[in-house]
Amino acid sequence: VTPVNEDARPATGPTADPASSEVNEEQPNVARVYDYLLGGSHNFAADRAMAEQVLAVVPNTRRIAQANRAFLRRAVAFLATNGVTQFLDLGSGIPTVGNVHEIAQDAHPGARVLYVDIEPVAVTHSATMLADNPDADVIRADLRDPDTVLDAVRRGGLLDLSAPIALLAVSVLHFVPDADLPQRLLARYRDALAPGSYLTLSHLTPVGLSADEASEGTAIYERSSSALTLRPVEEIAAMFDGYTLVEPGLAPVEHWRPDEPVSGPSLPVYAGVGLLR
Ligand SMILES: C[S@@+](CC[C@H](N)C(=O)[O-])C[C@H]1O[C@@H](n2cnc3c(N)ncnc32)[C@H](O)[C@@H]1O
Repeated sequence: VTPVNEDARPATGPTADPASSEVNEEQPNVARVYDYLLGGSHNFAADRAMAEQVLAVVPNTRRIAQANRAFLRRAVAFLATNGVTQFLDLGSGIPTVGNVHEIAQDAHPGARVLYVDIEPVAVTHSATMLADNPDADVIRADLRDPDTVLDAVRRGGLLDLSAPIALLAVSVLHFVPDADLPQRLLARYRDALAPGSYLTLSHLTPVGLSADEASEGTAIYERSSSALTLRPVEEIAAMFDGYTLVEPGLAPVEHWRPDEPVSGPSLPVYAGVGLLR
């Protein structure tokens, strides 16, 4: 395993970690492709090659990744200012600028954050970042196994499931195929949460993509660690079953409570925040 993007943060490359033997650097990995799209350094040649293929098919992919990450930051700030002090972040990714615990703990010192990701590079770098933070932790788990994730939450003692929690599933459920029943998985998490909890979700959709962009883009992802399932907006809306969407409802990601006026065609990611009553 060798560090990459030698020009940036080489000392924090994915070397010398206990999970490194499980890192397959030959197969593009969606966490590391996203890291590359965001300008990060925790990616390998295969990840960068795949990202460039995607960019050739969908030229605004970088903008999509940045807009998604900006949504995550705005949503966490919204949740924190609405009194949420606990965050369970499924598919949290490789640390980048403006991580969930930084935004949450800025608003509420002592806010607690548990990151969950399946990808060893994401988990290792999150663990390094959090080494001195008693109020944030990371576990490696597959969100498609809610029992394991929720058991880890209960046993870990960082989050209290009897009090409101913000469940984050941002830009991750399009990596869960229909066969794994994403809506049923979300129901399992929802049923473990206390009233006053929130679901924050963003998801890729074919809306805003040409038919060629959608089919060629998903074909590229077939060769990665996780295939991509673009879902219609109605299916994304159904993922909020049991929650009441806060304003502005489910919206193109850059239109969700933007900091500045937004113009131009909408991006193919829909996002929302729902409150569990
Ligand atoms: C596009 S990144 C999103 C990161 C972050 N949530 C964000 O929106 O900026 C998707 C992340 O989901 C993770 N992931 C994909 N499938 C997963 C699964 N079944 N369980 C846990 N994490 C998963 C990937 O490893 C990757 O880090």
